[in-house]
Amino acid sequence: MVKNIAVIRGDGIGPEIIKEALKVLDRVAEIFEHKFNYIDVDMGGCAIDKYGDPLPQAELDKCLASDSVLLGAVGGNKWNDVPGHMRPEKGLLRLRAGMGVYSNNRPAKIWPQLADASPLKKEIVDKGIDFIIVRELIGGIYFGEHKTVDGTATDVLVYSEAEIERIGRIGFETAQKRNKKLCSVEKSNVLDSSRLWKNVMHRLASEYPDVELTDMLVDNCAMQIVKNPSQFDVIVTENMFGDILSDEASQITGSIGMIPSSSLGATSCGLYEPIHGSAPDIAGLDVANPIGTILAAAMMLRYSFDMPTEADAIENAVSAFLDSGYRTADILSGDSTKKVGCSRCGDIIASFI
Ligand code: IPM
Ligand code: MG
Repeated sequence: MVKNIAVIRGDGIGPEIIKEALKVLDRVAEIFEHKFNYIDVDMGGCAIDKYGDPLPQAELDKCLASDSVLLGAVGGNKWNDVPGHMRPEKGLLRLRAGMGVYSNNRPAKIWPQLADASPLKKEIVDKGIDFIIVRELIGGIYFGEHKTVDGTATDVLVYSEAEIERIGRIGFETAQKRNKKLCSVEKSNVLDSSRLWKNVMHRLASEYPDVELTDMLVDNCAMQIVKNPSQFDVIVTENMFGDILSDEASQITGSIGMIPSSSLGATSCGLYEPIHGSAPDIAGLDVANPIGTILAAAMMLRYSFDMPTEADAIENAVSAFLDSGYRTADILSGDSTKKVGCSRCGDIIASFI
């Protein structure tokens, strides 16, 4: 198959990790006889420097015309002082909204080889950590009006029933494909938007009788994720809560560097990215962990290109890399003789395909 992939290298470690993901994709193309065309797209700080805009329309158009988008990371201290609507992150938010990818899927799964890298006690890890956070991605407070007037700042949080319903359905459908447990996370003891959220989830529940729906307040959920993560199968939540909880969930699996994510809307054109940021402090040092991005490429093959065998091949290669004892700096514990940099990591994983 021929696929056109829009590639956003972005800022900080973005270009390094993308390079390794493309190395792995090229290997897949070679073995499985596909052709992946890469279309470079500028977004984030690098686009601000080049065009004075974190995502010019022409760059967004390239993404919309592609079969899917693979993104490294955007942002960095260099652009901290630019106005809010011009920040590198705004490019990412505009890309997600422009693509209409409302459903963000972030797995929190512990690789058995990395059980030691989890900061949790062994008895908690041994009970198993394998859940998915389904995060609403293009609504809520990140997309409401933002303003600062006379020393008072306002950010508006809006959710419509329709927006909640479409992400709620994804939550139920995701649970149906797994262990059939859905936990809806909100703050209904305080927020109207959360009370609406909860009502919609319960209305939908009757259409998915095979799924067990529970509710949890977000502050309790933050606690439960470290106290008893094995209770979760699928969590569905709004944009900001999902942003925060997915960072927390990534840490209990060892490293945020290992976690990919997929974002989908009404079409098969998805956005695939690691969940971590641009890590400017380690940019260019060849120490970043590219596995989150490599696994994001695998998700792209699975969910957008209907290439499950190819996706399995990448995931198995990552597993073989870990089995062989190789570690990037962020997941290193103990024996440092198998410590590898970003580029070697990509070479080894590609060779295991
Ligand atoms: C993430 C990031 C982004 C988000 C930022 C960079 C806008 O934190 O993907 O989790 O908040 O969604
Ligand atoms: Mg985040």
